[in-house]
Amino acid sequence: MQKLIIKGKRNLNGKISISGSKNATLPILAACILSKNIKLQNIPLVQDIFTMIDLLEFIGLKIKILKKKNTLEVSNSDKKINTLAPYKLVKTMRAGVLVLGSLLTKYKKAKVSLPGGCAIGTRPVDLHLFALKKMGAKIKIKNGYIIAEAKKGLKGSIIKFPFISVGATENALLAAFNAKGKTILKNCAIEPEIKDLISFLIKLGANIKFSGRTIIINESINKTLKTNHEVMFDRIEAGTYLIASALVGKKITIDKINPEVIKTEINTLKKIGVKIKRNKSSITIHNNKNLKKISITTKPYPGFPTDLQAQLMVLLTQAEGTSKIKEDIFENRFMHVPELNRMGAKIETNNKIAIINGPTRLTGAEVMATDLRASVSLVLAGLVAENRTIINRIYHLDRGYEFLEKKLKSCKAEIKRV
Ligand code: EPZ
Repeated sequence: MQKLIIKGKRNLNGKISISGSKNATLPILAACILSKNIKLQNIPLVQDIFTMIDLLEFIGLKIKILKKKNTLEVSNSDKKINTLAPYKLVKTMRAGVLVLGSLLTKYKKAKVSLPGGCAIGTRPVDLHLFALKKMGAKIKIKNGYIIAEAKKGLKGSIIKFPFISVGATENALLAAFNAKGKTILKNCAIEPEIKDLISFLIKLGANIKFSGRTIIINESINKTLKTNHEVMFDRIEAGTYLIASALVGKKITIDKINPEVIKTEINTLKKIGVKIKRNKSSITIHNNKNLKKISITTKPYPGFPTDLQAQLMVLLTQAEGTSKIKEDIFENRFMHVPELNRMGAKIETNNKIAIINGPTRLTGAEVMATDLRASVSLVLAGLVAENRTIINRIYHLDRGYEFLEKKLKSCKAEIKRV
């Protein structure tokens, strides 16, 4: 099994270009089921995307991967379509459940495996099903599968989500694409990745408007079903490298981003005392000393993202005073804490709250984590720790970080995969 070995305490210098967003690409790929011919650019070549490609190919779509150009060409001829998402593909990547809305609205039936347990929380899909039922779907759960049917097609409806869910908003948007009449989605997630999905659906001919947390999808008869789309930058990858730069950067520029999209993250880092210069499509971070404590709660966008909570925690181990993080999205997302404590951090958790006492001197250790963001937080800890850190189970990192070692090495980090 592969490992990463990091020699810490090196000052990083240079430029890191951010890849396309994994979490924007996944629903857009699910939306390709609704289309005929699509060219997608700025696709991150990470494991979750390859799993989604396998799923779409299983369903019957044709996909050409132009690796050097980070481009995919996707076509759906509607021939030999399998309206099934099998367990073996959905269990490794929960976003597989996003094909449900597309399959059901287009082919009037779908059988999609329930994703099952997850390291960061129970993550049910009840809100996805709630939205589809409101649109007229008949749904039953049998043998671990969601079996959905809408013999006469889905119909528009008013759907108010009882709480905010990224995936349920995406599945409802996909399902509304071919629904008859008007669909109004209220209390939606408005993550930038959802706006990217909306702009993709509009290019396919959908009639979608949004204001605040309400999205209105009017029935559209003029659908082109062909388009080119460049996926947005990965804001979580950008945030991860911003934090790495705050930890060990001398002068680092994070490039190919839109700083406006990550202003909550930028403002949070500024509050901690990180010196940041915002440009039009990049951010430069200078040498950082005297980091200060903060209290923060993870929230849906535009709040501070849960996907950066573990990385921020590493930064707070280096800040003066007692910081507090409340994880308000997932119930089990502190799996990195015992590993960070093994490296010398002083973090206590109680239910949703983590208390971080800083600053602490971290020292290298052999560590492992159980999900993508927890794993990358250990990479950050390894960068700032004394001596050598060995990170196991790096397949988690490969699910979502494109060219991680290459990008860090280009800034003079000592990191290698063995
Ligand atoms: C998306 O997951 C992201 N995944 C996650 O990124 C991210 O952490 C999360 O949104 C929150 O921002 C993708 O975009 C592929 P939710 P999703 O539905 O859609 C509960 C990463 O590291 N819930 O907004 O699954 C759920 O359990 C990943 O890249 C229900 O109870 O998240 C959670 O507590 C990890 N019932 C909360 O809502 C439902 O039907 C928010 O989940 C749906 C969700």
